Amino acid sequence: MKTGLSGTNWRKIFRKRRNLIRAAGDGVILWLGHSLQPRNYLNNAYPFRQNSHFLYCTGLAEPDLAMLSFPEPDDDILFARAVGIDDIVWSGPGLPPEEMARGAGIGRVEDIAKLKETIDGIRGRGRRIHYLPPYQYSSALGIARLLRTRVESVGRNASVALMEQVADQRGVKSPEEIAEIEDALSITGQMHRAAMAAARPGLRESYIAGIIQGIALSAGRHQAFDPIVTIHGEVLHNGSRDNVLEPGRLLLNDSGAESPMCYASDITRTYPVNGKFTPRQAEIYRVVLDAQLAAMDMIKPKVSYIDLHFGACRVLAEGLKSAGLMKGNSSDAVDAGAHALFMPHGIGHMLGLDVHDMEDLGSIIGNKKKNAARRGPFGLNYLNLNRPLKTGFVLTVEPGVYFIPALIERWRDEKKFPEFINYDKLGAWLSFGGIRVEDNVVVTSKGARLLGTPIPKTIEEVEAALSAG
Ligand code: GLY
Ligand code: MN
Repeated sequence: MKTGLSGTNWRKIFRKRRNLIRAAGDGVILWLGHSLQPRNYLNNAYPFRQNSHFLYCTGLAEPDLAMLSFPEPDDDILFARAVGIDDIVWSGPGLPPEEMARGAGIGRVEDIAKLKETIDGIRGRGRRIHYLPPYQYSSALGIARLLRTRVESVGRNASVALMEQVADQRGVKSPEEIAEIEDALSITGQMHRAAMAAARPGLRESYIAGIIQGIALSAGRHQAFDPIVTIHGEVLHNGSRDNVLEPGRLLLNDSGAESPMCYASDITRTYPVNGKFTPRQAEIYRVVLDAQLAAMDMIKPKVSYIDLHFGACRVLAEGLKSAGLMKGNSSDAVDAGAHALFMPHGIGHMLGLDVHDMEDLGSIIGNKKKNAARRGPFGLNYLNLNRPLKTGFVLTVEPGVYFIPALIERWRDEKKFPEFINYDKLGAWLSFGGIRVEDNVVVTSKGARLLGTPIPKTIEEVEAALSAG
């Protein structure tokens, strides 16, 4: 069980959360925790990460747990695996199930072997079992077995009412959750500053990634996601770390730590390997920064995230026009989708227990009808959050400009938007890479509040941090 920041009564919070998520009428909600995933057998498993909805309702980060929650919260039952002598010999005794239940404010505990017959009994009395769509195959198989159904129908039969209520409730972060995210951000700030101080030509990307991960690990923290540390920032989710930091290149670091209660942070900085931005790098960097600051300025309750996205894209297109890479009316260019050559992703995403918070609920976190109408254009990935912003939403704001040779060549060959894109200039930019700048904010009644302690971001601040090593 995680203990979180001191002074917070998490037990009370979990009970309140479960009490609010009662979308099920007189039905019962099955919350299925994750199981260990074997690398080749169960005693050699991949690093374990609990299901975030389960964490939200219980705070319990251990594998092989499930919970049934009932209209009357005192009836909730935690199902846990009985600890055998082999477990004690090989892995230690772990936390007794009764103690886990106490920490989560759950009144009853049963052996997980009894979950199936308990569910059979509930359904036998004509009550429905509600569950969220699982995103790990083993969970889908588990639900299929528990509900005596085919695994193919598990996703289809997930409870839409529950998904909607969870999205509503988890979307608005409480002060305790924001404190967790800011706590994660304090480690993330250390990670980014250390990476800036260490970066210099001749090192490998993996060396910087090691520093980043070491800082989180030595603070007892996990990464919120696999860090992206690359001189090929134009590859949006670049997973390789084999390149040597060559002089003249930009290094993109997109990384974040988790808080004690597993809340994520997600920060990106991009900077020159040899400490000083070239005029060309500085020009594009300022375009990205202007778009980010403009987006932050636009954030306030009731603004739609997709409008924010297009607002930031307009600033980006205007900057790229000044740089001679785009032309024509910037607003028209964005309406047509021409800017997506340079920024083929959304302005950001929600942040919470997951880095792309609740992305497993897909369009449920937004406005389904509007999303269906607007998901067509290229470059709107992860803009599921097509709903008006609310006080308490935590968001990333992460515009970028990328020079993706394959995409540039494809669009040029297809003669896409020649009225808005200066293809003749782009030949000189094919090895530029990409720049992304990302921060995390909470929506307040007054606008966006930057979360965490500011991390060097202006050209002057970044160059000073680069020279700190
Ligand atoms: N940090 C990676 C992403 O936002 O997709
Ligand atoms: Mn992000």
